[in-house]
Amino acid sequence: MSKLTRPDPAGTRVAELWDVLPEEAAVDEAGVLHLGGVSVTELAERFGTPLYVYDEAGLRRQIRRFVDGLSARWPNSEVLFASKSFPAVGMYQLAAEEGLSVDIAGGGELQLALAAGVSPAKLHFHGNAKSDAELRMALEAGIDTIIVDNDDELDRLERLLERPQKLLLRVIPGVEAKTHASQATGGDDSKFGLPMDQALAAIERMRAHPLMEFEGVHLHIGSQILDVEQFGEAVEKISTAGEFPMYDVGGGLGVKYTYADDAPSVDAYLDAIVSAAREHLPADARIMIEPGRSIVARAGVTLYRVTTVKHTGRTFVAVDGGLADQMDAALTGQRFEALLAERVLEPWTESVQLVGRQCESGDLIVDGATLPAAKVGDLAVVGTTGAYGYTLANNYNGALKPAVVFVQDGSARVVARRETYEDLLRTHAPAIEG
Ligand SMILES: Cc1ncc(COP(=O)(O)O)c(C=O)c1O
Repeated sequence: MSKLTRPDPAGTRVAELWDVLPEEAAVDEAGVLHLGGVSVTELAERFGTPLYVYDEAGLRRQIRRFVDGLSARWPNSEVLFASKSFPAVGMYQLAAEEGLSVDIAGGGELQLALAAGVSPAKLHFHGNAKSDAELRMALEAGIDTIIVDNDDELDRLERLLERPQKLLLRVIPGVEAKTHASQATGGDDSKFGLPMDQALAAIERMRAHPLMEFEGVHLHIGSQILDVEQFGEAVEKISTAGEFPMYDVGGGLGVKYTYADDAPSVDAYLDAIVSAAREHLPADARIMIEPGRSIVARAGVTLYRVTTVKHTGRTFVAVDGGLADQMDAALTGQRFEALLAERVLEPWTESVQLVGRQCESGDLIVDGATLPAAKVGDLAVVGTTGAYGYTLANNYNGALKPAVVFVQDGSARVVARRETYEDLLRTHAPAIEG
């Protein structure tokens, strides 16, 4: 096999690439990108495109940074994987193997986690609108903790509980996260949790109930947060709810998506949380965190095939996926970086609109990507797409959800297969069969 390196050729931004690609990414002498030691050429030929590719070693390493980093700073602690960021059975299995607990936010994520073999004793159930059926399913499975969001949920639990159940209460800390509005969840007008005065009444209600084991409070101020001071501020705010055995301070650490982004390290994030905890929380309390994006984003890329190159007002390079498998650009304005993955070492000479194939002008994957002059058939990789890409995938224009492949040490394994047209038609059987 050709030697894999991380060179810095003139006329490219290759040297800056490595921070927005998986840890186990490198190029061969022909300029072809390899992920986990597997070339993108092989990945596309074997598994087709669009394809979600994850660097398994990088995922495991990032999990260890959170687990070891938090336990070194605050031994009575727990790291939960926020599974909404990448709810694939293969990922639940990997998270469990690495000793993570898991945050689920609905009956579907509960089913996926259980199918992955995650112990119910590791599951924590979130959600602002849990149904009776979902709560019943979670209680029957014997999950560890339910994070109660509101009084209606307490009404439901009063009806449903037949044995003691650990509960946390989600509170609104009143911290306006500096992030996209759709990702901010800790401000005073948040739909999640209860404001402090109502929270105190709900805590009294739980404490008075013989089967409700109230353990503490939970908050989550939002996602893609790049200023770690905000996490410290949230810890301080939550301490005003009172002294409890447990504090779950949510997820939200932001990641580097573009060459220009400057994202904090896991260590800086943990320092901010733990130094605020030392100042404001009881020394014997258990601290939980719930990272999602910051565990999975960098480890994942999306591999596409270029289908059209058009020079009209702008140069449009269109690929065989788009908004249906990469919703974040349209939903949150997230910016990504892209490269032509078999031509990494050629000069990057053109600024193009990298667009998808869905029927929306907002289906713009990268606004102004700098690439070599693209040709039909080229492979394009969009970096840092490991979080919230797969989970938001949909069937717009009848698109089939891509497969998910894990790569490591030169081999690749499918953990979720590509949808088929049969899958697409299955739910429509009542209409098809009359
Ligand atoms: C309750 C809760 N915890 C954790 C997370 C994970 O956030 P992130 O992926 O930004 O780490 C979310 C995401 O929205 C959430 O709602």
